Amino acid sequence: MTALPSPAPLYGDALARVHADGFEDAALKALPALLARLKKAPQGPMLELGSGAGGLLAALLAAGFVVQGLEPSQAFRRLARARHGALPLRAGTAEAAPKGPWAAILAIGEVLNYCAPDGAFEPWPEKLARLGSLLAPGGVLLFDLMVQGPEPLAGAGWREDEHWLVAHRFSERRGRGRREITTFLRRGNSWMRQHEVHEVVMPTVAQLEQALHRAGLAYRLAARWGRRQPLPPRRLAVEAWRRG
Ligand SMILES: C[S@@+](CC[C@H](N)C(=O)[O-])C[C@H]1O[C@@H](n2cnc3c(N)ncnc32)[C@H](O)[C@@H]1O
Repeated sequence: MTALPSPAPLYGDALARVHADGFEDAALKALPALLARLKKAPQGPMLELGSGAGGLLAALLAAGFVVQGLEPSQAFRRLARARHGALPLRAGTAEAAPKGPWAAILAIGEVLNYCAPDGAFEPWPEKLARLGSLLAPGGVLLFDLMVQGPEPLAGAGWREDEHWLVAHRFSERRGRGRREITTFLRRGNSWMRQHEVHEVVMPTVAQLEQALHRAGLAYRLAARWGRRQPLPPRRLAVEAWRRG
């Protein structure tokens, strides 16, 4: 595996809270399209990688699916339990995903762009072949991914709420993205400041398709989850099946 320079812990208390309040709705808007695909999957347990604050996991359980969630950030796991009660959510990563067979594996919110917590990045062909091998025959892998385009992706912005403010800057060089994020979270009369740097690895669309093909997965790529949920620029929704 290739080592990336920043294996710092991701999603501390402040950023986890801001993500849950301000950004988790993107995954929830994709829910109808995800449910439509999951209904065609074989019967059996499902796995969600990078469950974050647990909103999608709770919604999938409420829809009657048997789902195990994995989330590396302790702050997120704490928040998920505070918001949704006892959830089948464990500490864990995509790199150490438990053996299946899983009827479906979900990784929503650019989860597969991240490296492992130790900074190592499994090349795309190995990553997708390994996840594909954990699927039951006919099982489906659903994820969204940032991909490389003709120009490097760059930008900055901020968002705020009564209780928080988050500012970020993103830059990309040769398929390696770096997002610097500063979060201010109100705590009573004072503000807590946290800074995180997230390193992500972005394939070209050709590399992604080659990796899916080599993994023996049938697949469909789209710029949106269903009609209602377009993704931001340079993100793809990927639906891949292990042939039955
Ligand atoms: C943008 S958040 C999305 C969270 C949630 N899925 C959602 O859509 O709201 C990215 C998530 O990926 C998780 N993550 C990062 N690296 C990971 C890895 N190697 N394995 C599994 N999850 C990872 C983060 O902890 C975080 O929960």
